[in-house]
Amino acid sequence: MQQLRKFKNLLVTGGAGFIGSAFIRTLLKQDFSGTCVNLDALTYAGNLQNLTEIQDDSRYIFEKGDIRNQALLEHLCQEHAIDTIIHFAAESHVDRSIHGPRNFVETNVIGTFNLLETVRLNPHIHFHHVSTDEVYGSLGNEGTFIETSPYRPNSPYSASKAASDHFVRAYAKTYNLSTCLSNCSNNYGPYQFPEKLIPLVILNSLQGKQIPVYGKGINVRDWLFVDDHAEALVQLIHYGKKGETYNIGGETELTNIDLIHQILSHIARMIGKDENELKNLIHYVKDRPGHDLRYAIDCNKIKNELKWSPRHSFSEGLRKTITWYLNNTEWLHALTGENYQEWLSVNY
Ligand SMILES: NC(=O)c1ccc[n+]([C@@H]2O[C@H](COP(=O)([O-])OP(=O)(O)OC[C@H]3O[C@@H](n4cnc5c(N)ncnc54)[C@H](O)[C@@H]3O)[C@@H](O)[C@H]2O)c1
Repeated sequence: MQQLRKFKNLLVTGGAGFIGSAFIRTLLKQDFSGTCVNLDALTYAGNLQNLTEIQDDSRYIFEKGDIRNQALLEHLCQEHAIDTIIHFAAESHVDRSIHGPRNFVETNVIGTFNLLETVRLNPHIHFHHVSTDEVYGSLGNEGTFIETSPYRPNSPYSASKAASDHFVRAYAKTYNLSTCLSNCSNNYGPYQFPEKLIPLVILNSLQGKQIPVYGKGINVRDWLFVDDHAEALVQLIHYGKKGETYNIGGETELTNIDLIHQILSHIARMIGKDENELKNLIHYVKDRPGHDLRYAIDCNKIKNELKWSPRHSFSEGLRKTITWYLNNTEWLHALTGENYQEWLSVNY
C-alpha cells in the first residue's frame, strides 16, 4: 500500500454532475471529518437533486460558480482553507462538442488552466484531475490503453481533455506541484443525464420511443459502474502517487449493439415486456463523424498499487441502474423545461 495523504478541506469541481455527485456521496459515507466544498456552475448537466441525500450534511458546502473565473477559485481556496482539489467540471458530451466546440475549450482547457494557476499560487494544494480514456484515440480489434499510451484524440471533446491533461503534466513538472491524473472508461449508473447512451436506451425503451444507434453499432466501449469509479477516486486522493497517471476501467468491453440488447433484455424481464417488441425500437442512424472504433483499458496499475477493483459485474450494475431510473421518475421530471428541450434538439 502507498503512503496515506492526509487532507482536511476538499474542493470538488463539477460535483453536481453525474460522476462528481457519486464521488461526493461516496466520500461522505466514509470517515471524513473535513469540509467538502462543491463548486458547480449548474449547466444543463448539473443537478443539485443528485445530492439530495447529503445536502444537509454539516461537512458539505455548495458554491455556485464557474471554473472560468480564476478570481473566484482563488477566493474559495482561501475562504475554505482548501488543501485538495478534485476536478470533474467539464463539458462532457462528444456530440455536443461536434455541434459547438468552443465551450469545450473554454471550460475543459481554460477552466483547468485556471485551477492549475490557483494551485501554482497555493502550492500546498494537491490537485487530482479526472480525465477520460478517449484522449488515447481509437484502438483496432486488439490491444488496450495503458498509462503511457500516446495521446491521439479524435473529437473536440477528447482534444480538450487531452489539452487539459497536458497542462496538468506540464504544471507538475515545471512548478513541482502535487498532481495526480486518472483516465477512465465510459461510466454508467444512477443520475446520468439522459443524453448518454445507457440512460437514453433505458428511457426511450420505457417510453416506446426509437433507440438511435450510430452506424452499425459495432463500436466497442469499456463500461465502468459509477460507484466503482467513485471508490477508485476516493482511494486515489488518499494514496495516488504524486505526478502519476492511473487508468480506471470496468473490465467490460461491449459493442454498442450488444450493450443495447443486454439493456433491453434486462428491461423486458424486469417490467414483463416482450423483448422482441423492445428490439423493434432500435433504429440505425448515420455514424458520428470521427467515431472511435474501440476503447479498451488496462487498469492493472491501480489494481496492483491500490488494491482497487471494480466491484460490480456489468449485469449487477445494469440492474441497479435500470431499477434506479424506474424508481426515480421525479428526478427526470425535474429535467423538463429548457435544459431538457435543449438536449432533445441537439441529440440525433
Ligand atoms: N461520463 C463518463 O463516462 C466519463 C468518462 C470519462 C471521463 N469523464 C470525465 O469525468 C468528469 C465528470 O463527467 P460527468 O459525466 O460527471 O459530467 P457531467 O456532464 O455529468 O457533469 C459535469 C458537471 O460540471 C459542471 N460544469 C460544467 N462546466 C462548468 C464550469 N465552467 N464551471 C463549473 N462547473 C461546470 C456541470 O454543471 C456539471 O455538474 C469530466 O471531466 C469528464 O470529462 C466522464
